[in-house]
Amino acid sequence: MTYTLLPAPDNNEGGVGAPVLEVDEVTKSYPGEPPVQALRGVNLTIGQGELVGIVGPSGSGKTTLLQLMGTLDRPTSGRVRITGLDVATMADDDVAYLRATRIGFIFQQFFLAEHATVLDNVADGLLYAGIPLKQRRQRALDALDLVGLAQRPHACPTQLSGGQRQRVAIARALVGRPAIVLADEPTGNLDQATGQSILALIDQLHRAGSTIVVITHDHVIAERMSRKVEILDGLILSDTGPAAGADGRLRPFAPFAQHPVSGRRPGLPVREDSS
Ligand SMILES: Nc1ncnc2c1ncn2[C@@H]1O[C@H](COP(=O)(O)OP(=O)(O)OP(=O)(O)O)[C@@H](O)[C@H]1O
Ligand SMILES: [Mg+2]
Repeated sequence: MTYTLLPAPDNNEGGVGAPVLEVDEVTKSYPGEPPVQALRGVNLTIGQGELVGIVGPSGSGKTTLLQLMGTLDRPTSGRVRITGLDVATMADDDVAYLRATRIGFIFQQFFLAEHATVLDNVADGLLYAGIPLKQRRQRALDALDLVGLAQRPHACPTQLSGGQRQRVAIARALVGRPAIVLADEPTGNLDQATGQSILALIDQLHRAGSTIVVITHDHVIAERMSRKVEILDGLILSDTGPAAGADGRLRPFAPFAQHPVSGRRPGLPVREDSS
């Protein structure tokens, strides 16, 4: 199976780039007595180069939405497209490969392999790219440089502060140059000052061209994003829409579109301490 290339992003004049993520009339209900309607018809399109804050109170459906956007789960109804590819029509293996190569994740709990070095934690973000280890490590070093951690590549996460761990996780999310980075409460485990420095880093990465979605319960954090989407009871309450003039920060997609999605090793990179 092969997939069509998206139009070149530099066709866009002003505004944001081509859609990287499209959520179309998505619902999600969890079984139970009675079932929980976590999402009740969500529509959201995110273009290349956007920095979007999705904000809502506990239980509003934020993590559920992130899991659907990240192809970690499938909707009960509706469609999710990543870089134009309709997840519903794809086999599980293809979805796993799509996820591993086009989506970067950042979690509140970091999810690093505690006993692997910082360098290898980040290099593991490239396991699916078919790149030799030496090159993976070189690219990991570049990504660590981007997050200000290139000086401690051989430390283990247990030797790092919370803020430094989150920087490692961010480097891992970015190393494969994904089309979109999804962050679920990325500052939730950090003190105020460290959280601010992580938000500053996210802003810097956005300015450098990354497409980033930050999920948060904190309106102050969401206000810092160039687009704010409010979610309540499984529905989008408000959406400021793409920020005007986000152009000039666009960069071409990583060359993933040249690879067919099928025929690659399925599954996700191993997260030794995921829970
Ligand atoms: N696996 C599940 N099974 C049943 N119900 C679930 C499941 N996951 C989430 N829910 C329910 O779906 C609703 C939305 O949950 P979700 O985790 O998406 O909220 P959230 O906005 O991320 O909340 P928080 O800010 O507390 O993380 C809640 O009512 C929750 O109890
Ligand atoms: Mg949540």
